[in-house]
Amino acid sequence: MSKKKVVLAFSGGLDTSVCVKYLQNNHKMDVITATVDCGQDDDFDEIRKKSKILGAIKHINIDAKKEFAEMYVRKSIKANGLYQGKYPLATALVRPLIAEKIMKIARQENAAAVAHGCTGKGNDQVRFDIGMSCIDPSIKIIAPIRELNLARDLEIKYAKKNSIPLKDEIKKYSTDTNMWGRAIEAGILEDPWIEAPEDVFSLVKFKEIPAEYLELEFENGTPVGVDNQKMNLMDIITYLNIKAGRHGIGVIDHIEDRVIGIKTREIYEAPAAHTIIEAHKDLEQLVLTKHELRFKQIVDNQWSWMVYSGLWFDPLREDLDRFIDATQNRVTGKVKMKMQNGSLKVVGRKSTNSLYRQSLATYTSESIFDQNLAKGFIELWGMETVIANRLSNNLSTGRKGENKK
Ligand code: ARG
Repeated sequence: MSKKKVVLAFSGGLDTSVCVKYLQNNHKMDVITATVDCGQDDDFDEIRKKSKILGAIKHINIDAKKEFAEMYVRKSIKANGLYQGKYPLATALVRPLIAEKIMKIARQENAAAVAHGCTGKGNDQVRFDIGMSCIDPSIKIIAPIRELNLARDLEIKYAKKNSIPLKDEIKKYSTDTNMWGRAIEAGILEDPWIEAPEDVFSLVKFKEIPAEYLELEFENGTPVGVDNQKMNLMDIITYLNIKAGRHGIGVIDHIEDRVIGIKTREIYEAPAAHTIIEAHKDLEQLVLTKHELRFKQIVDNQWSWMVYSGLWFDPLREDLDRFIDATQNRVTGKVKMKMQNGSLKVVGRKSTNSLYRQSLATYTSESIFDQNLAKGFIELWGMETVIANRLSNNLSTGRKGENKK
């Protein structure tokens, strides 16, 4: 009887290499490894070689960079996607895409199971398990690291015992990268008092260089051009990771609440994400009404929470996207930014949909605003507050009087 097949989401790192051996030895399965390229800048030939050495029956590499930018990052930009106001969701956004690709391969290969290398402590297991179950609950999900309750030192032991080629046991940190950003954790970073040393970063640079300007053009809430050149979203992200990265922009040091009730200290570098979201928010401020802005902030927050917590496939996420999309029809225009020594400042913006009226805002005599209108407005605006204050003052005298009796 031929062995059952399992499709493993494979990065070539220690965790997923251990998974290959475990699936072969303990589950007695044939392993197909699959790597999804979303801009992680890995050596995909090396990953293929490693899969072969480990005895996988097949390796599949999928280039999903464009799809990631167009179908996932684009939505996050429109939603100003930031978890707890800080983390641009790079890892969170890519998981549902990887889940889809792995499940697709599993179906094509007629596999009995899929597998991932997540631990039982993180968010990624939540994202993969829920995502994969939403796509096809009949395919079994195996999470060897979680199943074995493995920690890094034990993994290294297991790797040595099973002649898994080791390279990254000397790695000082645990990282996860795609075009939308890079997450770095563990090692000395586990002490939240210790400042992240420069060697944790690879996208941002810390050498001081002269200030530079940047112009970002949006159409319907999506970047369509940069520095007067039209570009697709993927290329804009690549361009900004370099240009904003060389000014040290997009460094985030975050005490983060994981879905599994653990607080963690995460360092992120996300030059493009930080720049684009800052610009997008600023442009929204110019073209949306104050009512839209207030409500959208609540929606954006909820959207980010759903994506972070593994609920990409929940109908509510799509409902929120429909609302967000409706607001983005007018988010068209240009934003000008200045970058220097880790700081990014929006210094100008324009749009044909701008709600800003200089004739109303000006402090010169050109103003068309009739200042007398303000008096009545203030009276009505503050009416209840004034009454409430009068009442509480009177009541306190009243009570004092009562006490005297
Ligand atoms: N905390 C982030 C998240 O849950 C990033 C995790 C990245 N993984 C890593 N090995 N550093 O989305």
